[in-house]
Amino acid sequence: MDVRFSLFGEKLARESGILQLMEDLGQALRQPGPVYMLGGGNPAKIPALVARFRQALRELAEDTPRFLRVVTDYAEPQGLGEFRADLARLFRSQYGWPIGPENIVLTNGSQQAFALLFNMLAGPMPDGSVRRILFPLAPEYVGYADLGWSQEPLFRSLKPEIELQTAPFFKYRVNLADLPQDTRDLAAVCLSRPTNPSGNVLTQAEMETLVRWTRERGLWLIADGAYAAPFPYIQFVEAPPLWDEHVVLSFSLSKLGLPGVRMGILIAAEPLARGLAAMNAVLSLAPGNLGAGLVWEMVRTGEILDLGPRHVRPFYQAKRDQTLTWLATYLKDVPYRVHQPEGTFFLWVWFPGLPVSSQELYRRLKARGVLVVPGEYFFPGLEDPWPHRHECIRINVAGPEDVVQEGLRRLAETVRDLYEKAGAAAQAGQAAREGP
Ligand SMILES: Cc1ncc(COP(=O)(O)O)c(C=O)c1O
Repeated sequence: MDVRFSLFGEKLARESGILQLMEDLGQALRQPGPVYMLGGGNPAKIPALVARFRQALRELAEDTPRFLRVVTDYAEPQGLGEFRADLARLFRSQYGWPIGPENIVLTNGSQQAFALLFNMLAGPMPDGSVRRILFPLAPEYVGYADLGWSQEPLFRSLKPEIELQTAPFFKYRVNLADLPQDTRDLAAVCLSRPTNPSGNVLTQAEMETLVRWTRERGLWLIADGAYAAPFPYIQFVEAPPLWDEHVVLSFSLSKLGLPGVRMGILIAAEPLARGLAAMNAVLSLAPGNLGAGLVWEMVRTGEILDLGPRHVRPFYQAKRDQTLTWLATYLKDVPYRVHQPEGTFFLWVWFPGLPVSSQELYRRLKARGVLVVPGEYFFPGLEDPWPHRHECIRINVAGPEDVVQEGLRRLAETVRDLYEKAGAAAQAGQAAREGP
């Protein structure tokens, strides 16, 4: 049968970078021989949290009215109303935001929330113009890259300033001078904070500037808190989320340890929340309730606010510190830098002057059983041919110690070999030019 897809089908069902990446990772995991998994975005199975979620599931099963509400009814398109009321109360008491259940929309994972939000706000507009989403600091989350449903490019992004810090660290700063003068073709500014892949946390001053800049220009500011406070709180610097009428905040249960339940939470001005709920109805009738059912009691009592500081943050902080020590040991004689790890469970490693692209490094590592994510994927909408984007890789530190340690040892061997060969080749070239 001649399978013909529409333009929409071509765009979504055939050619996405994230699909290629996920399939490639899946295939590599099935190859014979040991696999050192430093790729992918799976969170760790933190024993105390696994136990708590299991208990919550049992309690849900025993609580007949709640069980029936969660499992045997469709929710309203915006998500279970009573649960949204408890969530709004939690955020109000924690941050003082003037929000109610009408400002909250639940989605089947926050990835879906971004798909709905981006396409609702940007793309072809009724007046014939086209609006885009601006990422003020690339590298940015790879999962955004293929979310545009129209044929027009949906994203633009800006190169950051690189601040070199005490070795081996560096930090990206938003290049505020580069923010566009003319914003008529923009709908929103979007960023993840903490940022996947770099582990950057935009400072409170950078955020306040962006909140003001967007407000003055009538743009939305979308802040993705998949790793942020108050949950899962994989954030090692104090940087509370900011909310305003034009700010859209996204949270998720995934990195708390519940990626399988697929629950995202958006907090937005009421008209936007209603629009998203309408899209939920068209695409899924209603969001799933199980995530809400699992954490409902923890939201109602405020216990969910303790999970991060008590279990999640210390767990990933220890992983991060251990991985940095291994990197320092194995990469001692190799030029490398790491983005200041202020949040997430990734380290973003930069090899200045890397003799091959990070794609090629990824292929060589995969042949040695080590999986990382090449940096090229994380610059959606950046037109500048910037060498830096080919010199970085993302490492997931959440895996078991022996896996991460051996993966890093092999990574160091591979990279050292590349630099040495390039050094030898450069010397040979120099000798050939200079003659006997
Ligand atoms: C920055 C960021 N945003 C959003 C998501 C989507 O997560 P989920 O759909 O599981 O909520 C992820 C997942 O890795 C992420 O890293």
